[in-house]
Amino acid sequence: MKAKIIGTGSCIPAKVVTNDDLSKIVETSDEWIRERTGIRERRVTDAATATSDLALVAAEKALANAKVSAAEIELIIVCTCSPDTLFPSVACILQDKLKATNASAFDLSSACAGFNFGLAVASSLIEAGRHKTILLVGADTLTKYLDWTDRGTCILFGDAAGAVVLKADQDSGVIGNFWKAEGNLRNSLVMPGGGSRDPENKNGRFIRMDGKEVFKFAVRALETSIIEVLKATSCSFDDVNLLIPHQANIRIIDHVIKKMGLPKEKVYVNLQKYGNTSAASVPLALDEAATEGRLKRGDLVILSGFGAGLTYGANAVIW
Ligand SMILES: CC(C)(COP(=O)(O)OP(=O)(O)OC[C@H]1O[C@@H](n2cnc3c(N)ncnc32)[C@H](O)[C@@H]1OP(=O)(O)O)[C@@H](O)C(=O)NCCC(=O)NCCS
Repeated sequence: MKAKIIGTGSCIPAKVVTNDDLSKIVETSDEWIRERTGIRERRVTDAATATSDLALVAAEKALANAKVSAAEIELIIVCTCSPDTLFPSVACILQDKLKATNASAFDLSSACAGFNFGLAVASSLIEAGRHKTILLVGADTLTKYLDWTDRGTCILFGDAAGAVVLKADQDSGVIGNFWKAEGNLRNSLVMPGGGSRDPENKNGRFIRMDGKEVFKFAVRALETSIIEVLKATSCSFDDVNLLIPHQANIRIIDHVIKKMGLPKEKVYVNLQKYGNTSAASVPLALDEAATEGRLKRGDLVILSGFGAGLTYGANAVIW
């Protein structure tokens, strides 16, 4: 049995923040941000909206798209590093609000690589025969953790949620995955406050990042994850119909696809509209690609992510 993606959904907040808007609060420009990242604008939640609010809308859309009722869900996994509260999990909030009374639920924390880690976990549970129907969500509201005076980070991130419904299927679905952690590099991307080491946020409640270090890692992580997931499936580069990489920075993507010789037409990019939406980035792009008709039955799709931890991973999916 494979884990087939039978429905997708997503949710973005209504508020658009453009590069020009940011140039009014930090010393930057639309031109600099576009040239160095490819981002033109991002979506930002209001104070009253938390991660579970976006996750719920994305999940409802994915369930409707899949024609699956909440009662059929056996497990909910929400990949997030910006939960509403340390506990309960976003997944349990979702279980209640969806009335998915037959489901178990937990959050998975692997930052921007979260959705790919979640897909590896969920597909393994389906392959093992443990579950038949799983709701997998990637959702983050990292703009709530941005230092709006730090131009090295506040230009990069946006908020969103994306969801997929996975169902056991004999023919198509996830055919391989790869995941890896490099905890020795953990200090290059950190949210220092708010956890048990610093519950009172004495070290700050904002994302701190060594942009250059993370950039170098990201290029290596994206390339390695594609090579390794293809190895795991015995597929070749030429077999790939669409690559959906984590939407962090167009220069990371361009660098890797140029080096690997993958044509631009085979790579899905929407980061110009949303920036880096963390765990939501890949399922949001997947939902848009599916809605735009970019995916045909039988296509080989590679999903890849990298992020804090540092972590990286990929999944190969027969659509
Ligand atoms: C953050 C990032 C865009 C910075 O781009 P960069 O090309 O590495 O830029 P640098 O840090 O070398 O800075 C170059 C110059 O631009 C300046 N600069 C940095 N941010 C700027 C901004 N928003 N606007 C204008 N100038 C800026 C720097 O201060 C520096 O100036 P200096 O040469 O006078 O010191 C880039 O490093 C990056 O994308 N890293 C990966 C981040 C990421 O993807 N994180 C999430 C992973 S999940």
